[in-house]
Amino acid sequence: MKNNSSRSFQTRAVHSGERVKAVDYTPVTTPISTAVGYLYESMDDMDAVFAGSKQGYVYVRYSNPTVTAFEAAIASLEGAEAAQAYSSGMAAIHAALLGCGVKAGATVVAAMDVYGATFTMLRGLLTTLGVNARLVNVSDLGEVESAIKETKPVCLLVETISNPLLKVADVPALASLTHIYGASLLVDNTFASPYLFNPLSHGADYTIHSATKYISGHGDVLAGVVATSAANKKVLFELNKLVGGVLGPFEAYLALRGLKTLPLRIPQQFRNAQQVAEWLQKHSRVKKVNYPGLADHPGHALAERLFGGRGYGGVLSFELDGAGKAQVYRFMEALTIILPATTLGDIYSLVLHPATSSHRSLTSEERALVGIPDGLVRLSMGIESPDDILSDLEAALATI
Ligand SMILES: Cc1ncc(COP(=O)(O)O)c(C=O)c1O
Repeated sequence: MKNNSSRSFQTRAVHSGERVKAVDYTPVTTPISTAVGYLYESMDDMDAVFAGSKQGYVYVRYSNPTVTAFEAAIASLEGAEAAQAYSSGMAAIHAALLGCGVKAGATVVAAMDVYGATFTMLRGLLTTLGVNARLVNVSDLGEVESAIKETKPVCLLVETISNPLLKVADVPALASLTHIYGASLLVDNTFASPYLFNPLSHGADYTIHSATKYISGHGDVLAGVVATSAANKKVLFELNKLVGGVLGPFEAYLALRGLKTLPLRIPQQFRNAQQVAEWLQKHSRVKKVNYPGLADHPGHALAERLFGGRGYGGVLSFELDGAGKAQVYRFMEALTIILPATTLGDIYSLVLHPATSSHRSLTSEERALVGIPDGLVRLSMGIESPDDILSDLEAALATI
């Protein structure tokens, strides 16, 4: 509205300064677009946007310009036709499962060692809703094929690099297997990031990210995203209009801003992880190190083939020799640079005790089945100097 002084102060307070049409300029960075609703020259134009015959926005739960920009960036980085953003990684996993046809009576085959909340969503929430969840060791292709043959699932859900055991999934082989039996392959690519691996280029149908991690990278935003075909995106878009787990424009802005430095942050994080893994492997207090960059890791050759020399990820885990929860907690408290915060993929180095955080929702029997002992520690390497990180680890290990 123009500054129409004939209108009352009350009306001017509501409308003045708003809805100024962009003339002939383009902001360099995508603005945070907070509008819930949108106006058009005519109601026929609005009707055409609702019908999908004209590009535009009608309501923030359907789509939003800042979110669209983030989705376009992810689609580009993942080599996808399209992407759909969510308010969290868990919302993205849930949406991809619904999008590929998971419903009462259907079966999902999933990797045994998926992220704890994913495990519990499958074994708890979805199971109570009538979905059958079958968990398998995805490193054993024979076991995966038998489970698929027997249960005829709608999908197989795996993580490119698993949390927290760092197993590497043979995505091309798993894609062939699932497609032979008419199922979709969903890949949680959070640990690898689009820098390391693009599952869709290797046959996957849906790539999922907790964008809270490497994509945003700075520990200041919760976000999720699914990259997929244009046809699948339509299904996800319609679903999201109903369930509303959308990403907000402020979060989309932060995620979009964060991902610009992904190719600069990640190589440093990967180098730090490699160096720390090799160092820990030689340490007398460490029983076992899980990191695909180590030559004796069972997934090393596969990682080399899939990741094309770009590295092996920024997360590793290790078992403290003879340690239980108490010793792990003392070790975590003794660290001064590596922060005991419950996340990963940040520029800050982080340490976590999977048994009491990421995999806390599992029973102790389930943790034993998956292979998560109380002495297991997970490290997510940041971009700090490797020398400082190693001194921090050395000093903390000396205290236990
Ligand atoms: C591999 C993986 N997938 C999904 C999630 C869930 O993401 P969010 O916390 O953004 O919901 C996490 C969280 O740690 C994760 O590690």
